[in-house]
Amino acid sequence: MGDYQRLQTEAEGEVQNAPQPRHNVYYVKPMSLLHRVAFITSILVCIVVVLFFIWGLPCEMSQCGQENVNSISWDRTLIGLELKGRMHLVGGNLIAILRGAQWGKSKGVRFPVNGGGVVALIGKTGTESYWVRLNVLPRYIDCSMSELFANGVRTCLVVGENGYLSALDPISGRTVWNIKTPSVKTYPQPKDIDVPIPIPDMDSDGIGDLVTLSRFTKEHHRLAFISGKTGYLIKEPPLSNDCLQVTDLKFDYATSTLQYTCSNHIMSRQMSYEVKEIKSRSMKTLDKVIIPEEEHLRFVEGNNSAGEHKVIVSNSGTCPNDCAVSVNVTDFRNRTIWSYHSQRAYIMSPVSLHFKHSISGFLLKIWQWHSPTEKKTKTADGISVELIKERIILITFNKSGNMHVVNASQTDIIQLCYDNECQPHLSFQTQSALIADLNGDGTQDLISYFVTYKANNDDPLLISDKHSVDQWELESRVRVVRLEAELPKLYEAVSKH
Ligand SMILES: *[C@@H]1O[C@H](CO)[C@@H](O)[C@H](O)[C@H]1NC(C)=O
Ligand SMILES: *[C@@H]1O[C@H](CO)[C@@H](O)[C@H](O)[C@H]1NC(C)=O
Ligand SMILES: *[C@@H]1O[C@H](CO)[C@@H](O)[C@H](O)[C@H]1NC(C)=O
Ligand SMILES: *[C@@H]1O[C@H](CO)[C@@H](O)[C@H](O)[C@H]1NC(C)=O
Ligand SMILES: *[C@@H]1O[C@H](CO)[C@@H](O)[C@H](O)[C@H]1NC(C)=O
Repeated sequence: MGDYQRLQTEAEGEVQNAPQPRHNVYYVKPMSLLHRVAFITSILVCIVVVLFFIWGLPCEMSQCGQENVNSISWDRTLIGLELKGRMHLVGGNLIAILRGAQWGKSKGVRFPVNGGGVVALIGKTGTESYWVRLNVLPRYIDCSMSELFANGVRTCLVVGENGYLSALDPISGRTVWNIKTPSVKTYPQPKDIDVPIPIPDMDSDGIGDLVTLSRFTKEHHRLAFISGKTGYLIKEPPLSNDCLQVTDLKFDYATSTLQYTCSNHIMSRQMSYEVKEIKSRSMKTLDKVIIPEEEHLRFVEGNNSAGEHKVIVSNSGTCPNDCAVSVNVTDFRNRTIWSYHSQRAYIMSPVSLHFKHSISGFLLKIWQWHSPTEKKTKTADGISVELIKERIILITFNKSGNMHVVNASQTDIIQLCYDNECQPHLSFQTQSALIADLNGDGTQDLISYFVTYKANNDDPLLISDKHSVDQWELESRVRVVRLEAELPKLYEAVSKH
């Protein structure tokens, strides 16, 4: 056992599962219903097992062989870091932000404990393309703002703690610019900024610009207009002193007006700010602007659709001990056709699938805590260990609307927590799956990562002294599976019988 097998076609399945034909004239008799059910079940079981081995087994155990190439494009383990947020595929590079290890052997080795960086892997092979080390914790990366170009490709905006903002060339990893103030006196260096939104050119350099909210102290907030070409602050007007907090910045292209929510102790209200510097509002440039808003809808709202099917997910409570997930998949009549409910679990943002031959569906990633709730093991330092199973469930519909649900993989994750601060951090992992065509073969691949501590003993819950976790190691594992290329075989195998 343990040898990798690729998904079987119907012919191969027959060889494996059907009994040896006896040389008998009555052999062509059609299968009985029971026989058929048993036969299809056996094929389904086989597929589940195969999918489990594709994703579920660590590489060392399954002796990753040459054959793996068929389904798994690549599999890469990155030591001493925690990948976070969404991955981006730009110019052939797979780009993600990360933070350094908080505990264990690799603590502070590659990345500062309170910092992190950016990593780019070559999409086709998984080979490391470059690393960017940051002394601040990156919060968000966006490579979809098409107004910002460098070397003919979109640059990626990296937003971090303490007002960090830079534009990164996704091919070379070179920093194109960092946010800069022309004069600290008139324009203080921005603090605690939001993800900037693109606006048309303000400083007449032919490149679109950016605007964001910059929060200094309570009641002292500003708008920060940033040159998309150089990163220099163009303008930094202060906002009303009445606002304890400012949020939700939006830009209205038709009127060149910014809108934001201003909240104080009593209420929240909409405020606006007219950007007078924008002279040309030509639709040509505006067409090009992609607002990350659609991304937000897709990933944040916790609902998603694929064809006429919808998945509605909800997470409630606080993990690990007091949380629950509820998932309903509905059809075109809003009838629930599949549901899942679980305690001590959390569901990541669903990913919808749209494949050829009208196959659509969803990929769900669920964390299920299974460390005992009564007895919390802690080191003398107060670090506790949580055991999590990460499951990927694949729900697909074929052209005739038939649903297939497979448990595609299961992975064990060891999480370390101190005072509600955990690594891997749940909120960093909610977008850890991406569907994209990585190798340019016209089929979609699944790119998924998970992050875990590797214990140096068999029972991770047995931590006796404060040094126990010092020898543990944090790792992030990225795996690419040729999902679409392998999926039709599943339908072939099932539908031919
Ligand atoms: C679900 O997503 C759609 C867009 O895909 C959005 O319009 C809608 O408001 C969302 N609904 C909920 C309940 O989040
Ligand atoms: C799923 O359906 C059940 C029963 O109808 C309901 O109680 C639950 O709230 C639904 N979950 C979501 C996420 O809508
Ligand atoms: C399904 O629900 C949506 C929104 O909840 C509603 O707009 C739509 O009319 C419903 N469709 C049917 C067939 O009931
Ligand atoms: C969809 O799957 C069902 C059963 O698995 C099968 O009977 C049907 O022919 C399939 N439809 C298409 C269009 O592949
Ligand atoms: C997937 O796994 C869960 C729990 O291990 C199990 O309850 C469920 O029946 C499985 N589903 C399929 C389709 O195998």
